[in-house]
Amino acid sequence: MKVTVFGIGYVGLVQATIFAELGHEVVCVDVDEAKISNLKQGIIPIYEPGLTPLVEKNYAAGRLLFTTDAQEGVEHGKVQFIAVGTPPDEDGSADLKYVLAVAKTIATYMKEPRIVVDKSTVPVGTADRVSHQLQTTLDERGSDLTFDVVSNPEFLKEGSAIEDCMKPDRIVIGTDNPDVEEVMHELYDPFSRSRNRMIVMDVRSAELTKYAANCMLATKISFMNELANLSEKLGADIEKVRVGIGSDSRIGYSFIYPGAGYGGSCFPKDVQALVRTAHGVDYQPRLLEAVEAINYSQKTKIFSNLQKHFGADLTGKTIAVWGLSFKPNTDDMREATSRVLMEALWEAGAKVQAFDPEAMNEAQRLYGNRNDLLLAGTKEAALQGADALAICTEWKEFYAPDFEVIKESLTSAAIFDGRNLYDPIRMKEQGIAYYGIGRGESV
Ligand code: UGA
Repeated sequence: MKVTVFGIGYVGLVQATIFAELGHEVVCVDVDEAKISNLKQGIIPIYEPGLTPLVEKNYAAGRLLFTTDAQEGVEHGKVQFIAVGTPPDEDGSADLKYVLAVAKTIATYMKEPRIVVDKSTVPVGTADRVSHQLQTTLDERGSDLTFDVVSNPEFLKEGSAIEDCMKPDRIVIGTDNPDVEEVMHELYDPFSRSRNRMIVMDVRSAELTKYAANCMLATKISFMNELANLSEKLGADIEKVRVGIGSDSRIGYSFIYPGAGYGGSCFPKDVQALVRTAHGVDYQPRLLEAVEAINYSQKTKIFSNLQKHFGADLTGKTIAVWGLSFKPNTDDMREATSRVLMEALWEAGAKVQAFDPEAMNEAQRLYGNRNDLLLAGTKEAALQGADALAICTEWKEFYAPDFEVIKESLTSAAIFDGRNLYDPIRMKEQGIAYYGIGRGESV
């Protein structure tokens, strides 16, 4: 099938590549000329395990094309995906200007009926706004061409996007047109050959499903973080509580890891956007507001533990920070806990020596001009002469460090572990002051 994808960001590029891998003919359109010319040379704008060879293979096979020519894109695909960004507005609601601009472009150039699919995470009611934009532009052209607008939210995770896309838990399709449903089946059937993964529903329910999923996961995390904070007051160990409750199959083990807050381009933005959507229809979403508030304060947890240990004044201290990306297996630092920590440390007059296995270029781009940041080449180099170690992300290579090296390198043997990687008892035996998240009385 001929498919066009507008917006070659994270979601757009991964989805387009996977469609091509399954044999569809895909044209990718983006306004960013540098990005398109890089992609043609096999330079991939994001770090995602397994993506580069797939892009190269399908580009070489001629099934995956990259262009800045919107007209070419509109003429190519019977199905037109909108996968452009929806950055938060100043008030936290999703800004739809890029989505609506693509809708206008499609209506400007279409010569045959088109199925327009919202893949970007968009608030409930966006499909209606996209329809309105398409119709207005077609009316201006004096055209009587027809179109359908479908909601097809994306559920992939950074770091395992290829796997998530190839073997999806579900493919949510919001449409009330059986003919469109048929086309979507044809497009997606190769993904769900063994078992039908497609869940078809009305457009508004599909739009809300995306937010509901991310907000539910964010709620699980904030719930655990609240219990972690309570565990510290009560002298309980949240890691034991986690295993204790996860064994109940109704609760399950996933997404109940306490830590120094959730980050990334999705959870913080989506929780905020649903809160704003609720306010817009005169509903106060008390639970979601609490989820957001808990996460906000949880991201300051490592910093307050540092102050607990060293005293309020951190002037002149140097802190080693391991893990800058918002989670392992990505170089993405959007809304990362590391940023909240480092910015608080700089504000307090402290210096940072940072290391991340993948996000060093991103850190350089964001903070490269600071003289109170040293970007270290290895995790050991980040420790040299620092006063303490703070861990923001649970990269595998941080799981079993040489604690003797840590003790020798730091001026005071103290670890502030935002991801509960180590055993507090072992740390005590090693003579290391250890501050985890919710591990009973710290130190
Ligand atoms: C998330 C969802 O998991 C995807 O299903 C969704 O498609 C995606 O958002 C999206 O809307 O595009 P992602 O942001 O890539 O994916 O990352 P997650 O693996 O969900 O992690 C988000 C944050 O939660 C990370 O900061 C992670 O450290 C934190 N987290 C996760 C915890 O603190 N505890 C947990 O138990 C799990």
